[in-house]
Amino acid sequence: MSRRKVYVTRRIPKPGLEAIQDVAEVDVWPDELPPPYDVLMDKVVGLDGLLCLLTDRIDSALMDAAGDSLKVISQMAVGYDNIDLMAATERGIPVGHTPGVLTDATADFTWALLMAAARRIVEADRYTREGRWKTWGPMLLLGQDIAGATLGIVGLGRIGQAVAKRAQGFGMRLIYHDIRRWPDAEDSLGIEFREFNNLLKESDFVSIHTWLSEDTYHLFSQEEFQLMKHSAILINSARGPIVDPDALYQALNDGEIAYAAIDVTDPEPIQMDSPLLELDNIIIAPHIASASLQTRNLMATMAAENLIAGLNGEKLPHCANPEVYK
Ligand code: GLV
Repeated sequence: MSRRKVYVTRRIPKPGLEAIQDVAEVDVWPDELPPPYDVLMDKVVGLDGLLCLLTDRIDSALMDAAGDSLKVISQMAVGYDNIDLMAATERGIPVGHTPGVLTDATADFTWALLMAAARRIVEADRYTREGRWKTWGPMLLLGQDIAGATLGIVGLGRIGQAVAKRAQGFGMRLIYHDIRRWPDAEDSLGIEFREFNNLLKESDFVSIHTWLSEDTYHLFSQEEFQLMKHSAILINSARGPIVDPDALYQALNDGEIAYAAIDVTDPEPIQMDSPLLELDNIIIAPHIASASLQTRNLMATMAAENLIAGLNGEKLPHCANPEVYK
């Protein structure tokens, strides 16, 4: 039997790559930047399996270019808004993703953003390096207290709950909004449900942990920022387009809200002429919330397991479109 053909759209951690190389003929895109769409169109022809990343657009045309041989698409990420899931299901292609293994790393990083914003740590570092530290100052770089503050979590799935758990240890008051209620989490975390607008009005910190979809695109726009406290801090470690970047700039610049700390932007990467980069009251990280050595190894391994199951015609252990099996 000829070896199955797999394309991997970037170099990924060894534990995942080697597992795939053991069972298939693997071609890996070698560059730091993702393969351009037209290159991907050529590369997928006749493939058995595709291992992709959130930077790749995986649409119906690409699936058609791959042809009938394509048995599985495995994404090394928990989110998959870059993949046309419906098109995959219509073509009988299961799509794998990597939930669970990155929950703690992402919640940790969210927490780092929250604390860095509350206590202005990035600004403080710049201040020191620029030689501006002359003395201890009673009014120097004043931030916001975390203990006793209200944290509003938008989207109380795995990562939202892990963030809430961390917040408990810091003595925060917890509220959330979601399209569904989470009664178990409400009990175990002592977190209360709020309508979206009420959450915006009550929160000192708002942290976004929802999927990107048509419903959540620009969920945070001018109107939402106007409802928030002037002292509020916005954290986004979910997906950039959930926040309207122009409205965010206005809100931060006009003092509608106090601060933002974001790991994701719209577009990605952020354009170097984005006015957000001119503001001091925002921290912008390059989409690295899951970027710990251990977590990326686990994500690569899970993506490989999904891929290999798909190549073998077995059910993917972590499938984003389980309806494909109906
Ligand atoms: C990262 O953003 C992921 O979805 O895994």
